[in-house]
Amino acid sequence: EGLPELKKAVASWFERRFGVSLDPDSEILILIGSKEGLSHVNLAFIDKGDGALIPNPAYPPYRRSVILAGGKVVNMPLLRKNGWQPDFGKLRKGDLSKAKLLFLNYPNNPTGALADKEFFEKVVDFAEENELVICHDMAYSEITFDGEKTISILQNPGAKQRTLEFHSFSKTYGMTGWRLGFVAGDSKLLKALRNVEVTVNSGAFHVLQKAAIVALSLPDEAIQKVRQTYQERRDILVKGLKELGWEVESPKGGIFVWAKIPYGYDSKRMAKLLIEKTGIVATPGVGLGSQGEGYLRFSLIVDKERMKEAVERIKTLFF
Ligand SMILES: Cc1ncc(COP(=O)(O)O)c(C=O)c1O
Repeated sequence: EGLPELKKAVASWFERRFGVSLDPDSEILILIGSKEGLSHVNLAFIDKGDGALIPNPAYPPYRRSVILAGGKVVNMPLLRKNGWQPDFGKLRKGDLSKAKLLFLNYPNNPTGALADKEFFEKVVDFAEENELVICHDMAYSEITFDGEKTISILQNPGAKQRTLEFHSFSKTYGMTGWRLGFVAGDSKLLKALRNVEVTVNSGAFHVLQKAAIVALSLPDEAIQKVRQTYQERRDILVKGLKELGWEVESPKGGIFVWAKIPYGYDSKRMAKLLIEKTGIVATPGVGLGSQGEGYLRFSLIVDKERMKEAVERIKTLFF
């Protein structure tokens, strides 16, 4: 469940950061990384044959854990023309009547899109109409560019009673291997997830939880350096790919560049070519869902100099 002092630190961070007040005891649960919570939420809410609405493309564990729980994945295509937001109006009535969970993720992996207040209003209305629990994955909440700042869906006054929002210490604080995250939201929904959590694990290592309290107290200038670092890498890669004629948007957040592949290659073929000829590893878009075909996902995890070298190597491949 988490140390009471970490839950208190999370509540005061949430209040400071989003202006949302949460009860540390009943509205926050500490996780061994947000991934395990995002998976276990399916065990808490999905019975055999129930549906879960999953963005496509998306972080793969969402769909896999729905399947592990015996549920049915209902795809919500994320299209560029819709600002990488799902079009709820296109979902079939039959699928909606069986759906229990709605997964969303902003800043989005892989597209780099952010969500705004109007979109979250639509989400809450849609979830209410269809009696869905909203599972919002905000793992990249602090990694935004060009001065953008994310909002939490819990800032929407109607959201809390049907929302669980998942956060991570992995990205903002570079604590990936340490495995720590948290989930915030409605106390009844959290109780259902908590019942699974206390059955399958026994809580995160206390030393890490104490380190997380320190992390949450860091001033924004410290996080600003992280944003700046990713933004510089983003700019080098996006500029390089554009010079090669690739159609690529500058992501507004997250740690990925979602690039449309030119020259008619499919994503697996292009990823293979890149590894074999340049030694660069990029994820084939189709690995993140059928809608990801035709795209490659580049990660911004190497330093500026390596990123420049990567761009030069890609150029040698095409010129
Ligand atoms: C969208 C998204 N959500 C969640 C996670 C998992 O983060 P954690 O390390 O907190 O389990 C990742 C990690 O890659 C991710 O990309």
